[in-house]
Amino acid sequence: MRICALNFKGGCGRTTLSLQLAAFYAKQRQRTLLHDRDPQGSALAWAALAEETPFSVGSSRSPGFQVEIVDTAPRMPVNGVVPQADLYVIPTLLDAVSFVVFLHTLAFVQERRLPHVIVANRVNERRAEHRARLTTPELSGALVVRERAAYSASYDLGQSVFDLPGRWAGDAQAEIGRIASAIHGLTTMGRVAA
Ligand SMILES: Nc1ncnc2c1ncn2[C@@H]1O[C@H](COP(=O)(O)OP(=O)(O)OP(=O)(O)O)[C@@H](O)[C@H]1O
Ligand SMILES: [Mg+2]
Repeated sequence: MRICALNFKGGCGRTTLSLQLAAFYAKQRQRTLLHDRDPQGSALAWAALAEETPFSVGSSRSPGFQVEIVDTAPRMPVNGVVPQADLYVIPTLLDAVSFVVFLHTLAFVQERRLPHVIVANRVNERRAEHRARLTTPELSGALVVRERAAYSASYDLGQSVFDLPGRWAGDAQAEIGRIASAIHGLTTMGRVAA
């Protein structure tokens, strides 16, 4: 299975989601590669913080992996060509500017009929503007990842939420598990939006 995290907007959580999902699959004993195709090299920098990672992180494809997650740069790809994938995961923040760029990304994948799923990221249900944004038609059916300190803390430590103890990390682990289950359902049942 090959998953590609895509959004032309920076800072929306592509790397966070990529590495947390990679950690989930590694925990499921899937040989997993996090393929960093962003010239910023954030996933590689994250891996350098870690003494060891439970999955491989590299800047190129290599054979022998059951799951490959491709992290991409925050821009429209050159020549409009994106990495081949079974599913494009589009994380987006819910503020107005992020939403505009997300809509460009969504139009891009829809025009090319690429199978995709949307993840509303850093959601805070106590914020009225977040609740309102989630009711827009483009976000109907979007998966939700909440704003959680466990994501930012593990990112800063070269770890994943699966390395952290306690309830706060457990809630994030369960959330990533739900995202992975949804991805599994979408990629195996052919129910992806294109
Ligand atoms: N759900 C979340 N809860 C809390 N913090 C988050 C969440 N998702 C991402 N972050 C934080 O937001 C910041 C940006 O996330 P990340 O680097 O994953 O985005 P990106 O889309 O890969 O950005 P870039 O454009 O730099 O590649 C990071 O500091 C990360 O820890
Ligand atoms: Mg990134």
